[in-house]
Amino acid sequence: MDLFDILEKRASVRSFRDDPLTGEQVATLLHAAERAPTAGNLQDYSIVLVTCLDLKAKLAELCWKQPFIKKAPLFMIFNIDQHRSSLWIERSGGRKVFDGPTGFARSFMDIGIASENVVLAAESLGLGSVYIAIVAGAARSIRQLLGYPPLVVPVLGLCVGWPDKRPQPKPRLPLRAIVHRDRYQDFSGEEIDRIYGARESAWKQANPQGLTLPDGRIVKSLSQWTTLGHYGGDIVAQWDEEFVEAIREAGFRFE
Ligand SMILES: Cc1cc2nc3c(=O)[nH]c(=O)nc-3n(C[C@H](O)[C@H](O)[C@H](O)COP(=O)(O)O)c2cc1C
Repeated sequence: MDLFDILEKRASVRSFRDDPLTGEQVATLLHAAERAPTAGNLQDYSIVLVTCLDLKAKLAELCWKQPFIKKAPLFMIFNIDQHRSSLWIERSGGRKVFDGPTGFARSFMDIGIASENVVLAAESLGLGSVYIAIVAGAARSIRQLLGYPPLVVPVLGLCVGWPDKRPQPKPRLPLRAIVHRDRYQDFSGEEIDRIYGARESAWKQANPQGLTLPDGRIVKSLSQWTTLGHYGGDIVAQWDEEFVEAIREAGFRFE
């Protein structure tokens, strides 16, 4: 399939058949990852491939109980990784400079780029995938579970497998929401209403009475549902805390 066909048709897949991937397919995905641009050509990230059912079940539990993590034949965990290159630097008389915020950010950017290469390669093989960001919110537990050394922090997961159902591509915001020309053009309240209008209307059409939260409050807009319902309670604060702790434990300097 042409790249632009893939970009048009791709949608996150959350329902997978049991069939495993072949070694050759996994090798193709990994080759796509390693061909991605990488800052300084350092490849300061790592990927843990998880296929063991028991481990996938534990990871699914840690990552907001998302069942497709267990069901997907392959769960890839992308890690910020300054460990391997720090060993190299130490052994050959280099200087330890990448354990601070920009080294961390550089690895994060590498991961975004490499993982999306995997997503597109998977599509071209007829596979489907879904990212799992909550890996970052379970980073301490995952570091322990998988025996990570210092300077390695898991930040992104990717479930890959044969789609059971292929969802329709989701609409995006109008382009003017994300594109600014020459300078940042800030938004008026009316522009924000226009930009998010289609999403809010679709949500209101699907939930004309609003939705009742577990604590009895009623939410009446998509933004309320997203922040008070879907990501409600103190779940985001818990993820934030766990992520910051994992970064500290791994020995990154952020002060
Ligand atoms: C960084 C990142 C993290 C994501 N984390 C999750 C996740 O934990 N669970 C999930 O079901 N989907 C996750 N997704 C998928 C998004 O929900 C999805 O990309 C978005 O709704 C747009 O839909 P589409 O991918 O079908 O176009 C994530 C996507 C990205 C890019």
